[in-house]
Amino acid sequence: MALVDTKKMFQMAYQNGYAIGAFNVNNMEITQGIVSAVAKEKAPLILQISRGARSYASMSYLKAIIDVAVAENPDIPICMHLDHGDTFETCRQCVDDGFTSVMIDGSHLDFEDNIKLTKQVVDYAHDKGVVVEAELGKLGGIEEDVVGVSHDEVMSHLTNPDQAEEFIEKTGVDSLAVAIGTSHGAYKFKTAPKLAFDVVEDIQKRVPNYPLVMHGSSSVLKEFKDLINKYGGDMPDACGVPEDAITDASKMAVCKVNIDTDLRMALTAKIRQVFAEKPAEFDPRKYLGPARDAIEAMVVHKLKVLGCTGKAAECL
Ligand code: G3H
Ligand code: 13P
Ligand code: ZN
Repeated sequence: MALVDTKKMFQMAYQNGYAIGAFNVNNMEITQGIVSAVAKEKAPLILQISRGARSYASMSYLKAIIDVAVAENPDIPICMHLDHGDTFETCRQCVDDGFTSVMIDGSHLDFEDNIKLTKQVVDYAHDKGVVVEAELGKLGGIEEDVVGVSHDEVMSHLTNPDQAEEFIEKTGVDSLAVAIGTSHGAYKFKTAPKLAFDVVEDIQKRVPNYPLVMHGSSSVLKEFKDLINKYGGDMPDACGVPEDAITDASKMAVCKVNIDTDLRMALTAKIRQVFAEKPAEFDPRKYLGPARDAIEAMVVHKLKVLGCTGKAAECL
């Protein structure tokens, strides 16, 4: 089957209390590791491509790799999504390049400008049958000891449910990324954050059956940080978003969960291990192969956290 959009996935995820994993891809091994995990576990999948991934690997290579994954897995619904599109022009280009979903991230703009930009992308994308994700509020933690961000600052940037309702109505956007206390990257928090589930519940009451998205949802698993450091890395202690909080969010209106950092850490830990244990190794297949397997194992684990194992068929 061809690439799909997220409509059916989100409908099923919302209805049945799970979330779809949106995993970032930058090359063939990462894509193969993710796809082999969902094929094994029969799970629906969102493969997302950032602007950085587009410029690193080039869109034509990434699209060709994803086309092969789609052709080889007809029983798995796969969506190709633009992660954090910054301008109308980037989104337009991605719609024209064959993406089935694009994100326009106007979260840095003021409310009215975010609405205006998002609406412009929605009008263009919907006309071509492509769905759109937008963002309202700014990511961060909600604990006082968040690395680099003050508690007050973070609390004032959580998504405002009043605004979310108005934003969804005025833009017609298909899903909304909300700031509920998550944060991007490997250095999120000093202690485990408490997510603002009251914001999710409030939006859920105002706009029933509407899919929300959680960015910055890696858990920065200690086991992988320790492996990286054991084999010569230098990653400071940090907490990510606890996996039980992700499971809880997945049972609510959160239908898409973005994970990149945990995959990067799994891949890096394995490559470092091979280099440390076999310093004479210089065949890339001997370290990229195990790294690909490490990605697969991490994604199999995440699918269980999200509750979407075995859900591919109902999303087709
Ligand atoms: O949210 C950002 C994703 O982790 C992608 O990161 O822009 O470095 O590709 P990137
Ligand atoms: P992490 O850095 O927590 O993996 O978040 C990724 C993300 O939100 C991509 O859009
Ligand atoms: Zn993100």
